[in-house]
Amino acid sequence: MSEAAAKALDAADSLARYRSRFALPEGTAYLKGNSLGAMPLPVDDTVRTILDQWRTRQVRAWNEGWYDLSRRLGAKVASLLGVEADEVIIGESTTIAWHKLCSAALEAQPGREEIVTDDLNFPSDLYALQGLARQRGARLKVVPSNGIALPPEGIASALTDESGVLALSHTAYRSAYVHDLETVQTLARRRGILTVWDLSHSFGVMPIPLREAHADMAAGCLYKYASGGPGAPAFLYVRRDLQDRLANPLQGWFGHAAPFEFEETYRPAEGIARFLTGTPPIVSLAAIEPGVDLLAEAGIEAIREKSMALTRYAVDQYDALPDAGELALATPRDPEQRGAHIAFTHPEAFALSRALIAEDIVVDFRAPDLLRMGFAPLTTRFHDVLRAMDRLASMLASGEHRSIQVDRPAVT
Ligand SMILES: Cc1ncc(COP(=O)(O)O)c(C=O)c1O
Repeated sequence: MSEAAAKALDAADSLARYRSRFALPEGTAYLKGNSLGAMPLPVDDTVRTILDQWRTRQVRAWNEGWYDLSRRLGAKVASLLGVEADEVIIGESTTIAWHKLCSAALEAQPGREEIVTDDLNFPSDLYALQGLARQRGARLKVVPSNGIALPPEGIASALTDESGVLALSHTAYRSAYVHDLETVQTLARRRGILTVWDLSHSFGVMPIPLREAHADMAAGCLYKYASGGPGAPAFLYVRRDLQDRLANPLQGWFGHAAPFEFEETYRPAEGIARFLTGTPPIVSLAAIEPGVDLLAEAGIEAIREKSMALTRYAVDQYDALPDAGELALATPRDPEQRGAHIAFTHPEAFALSRALIAEDIVVDFRAPDLLRMGFAPLTTRFHDVLRAMDRLASMLASGEHRSIQVDRPAVT
């Protein structure tokens, strides 16, 4: 497709106007919204407000908005998830939220010693589960996928009466495969298994049927498509009727029923607040709000529609390559089963990623051989996708990426 045709798609895009509300240099094709979302312009003011409060009100600011921030922002995230305001709270990183939920779920399932996950899950989640299995003397079963997808039947056949917890990434970080949450949740419920979903690659790019599926628990990253900023704390969801049945494995004063009574014995708060532990990072928490507000303003249905159009467009470009050589699509072809990024395998994926980044086409590399392009619908233009795909094709044809000499950085 020509550049003019891509620009025509951008001109017809009802979400195109949102791009100007983010800090993005014009010459950059930023395709890393799946990793660190671009900065919403109001973040400058939001963070400055917190610093001003610190400067002028010091500790008094805790009673002037800081203390309720975890819950207030949790309610905004809940509304985007379509669940109740008191079912979501924001506290620590995704890994810690995930750890807490999986641990609480396992403790609530005495006699069921098995945790089930799959090999599409994010390594940090797997590390947490491995640690949990070790600490609790539980068994971790990792269901193999075909590297891209794992249909519900594959999960069903792995579940037994010994399974206590099913812990999955809703959208896979490598292939972007989206689990059928409603079907999998039903399978688990029939066997009395509690589910924990990692929504990191789903939140902010698609409607998630937590309510429809009567889903048990979830955690999700806010620095990706929600543009919450580097290291933004994650959200944690627990269905209301489960909240008082579950115990936070990391007990601390922010999850106490009355933190400022300074009682010597832990008493869990009622409801979602019991899943907090220590003092939340207020500056980072505050930076989340503008991105979440922009998602709410644009509307999650419209966002998903554009997201599917963007990934479909990228796949069309791939299919139109006269010779893809060793570049293989590593993403489901059905847009309904696909999140908001596209992945390719190639033996030279690292060199290709660095060569593209050197031209301000910001993509990423996931070892050993994956090249990913993430399309945040509020900031990605169709002509950014075209530019990335065109340059990828011309690099593959010329081999020019092979002359790029870069040491592998810590973050790829
Ligand atoms: C699916 C998934 N889960 C968890 C994480 C880790 O999140 P955090 O750094 O907030 O612990 C990531 C990070 O990229 C991720 O992609």
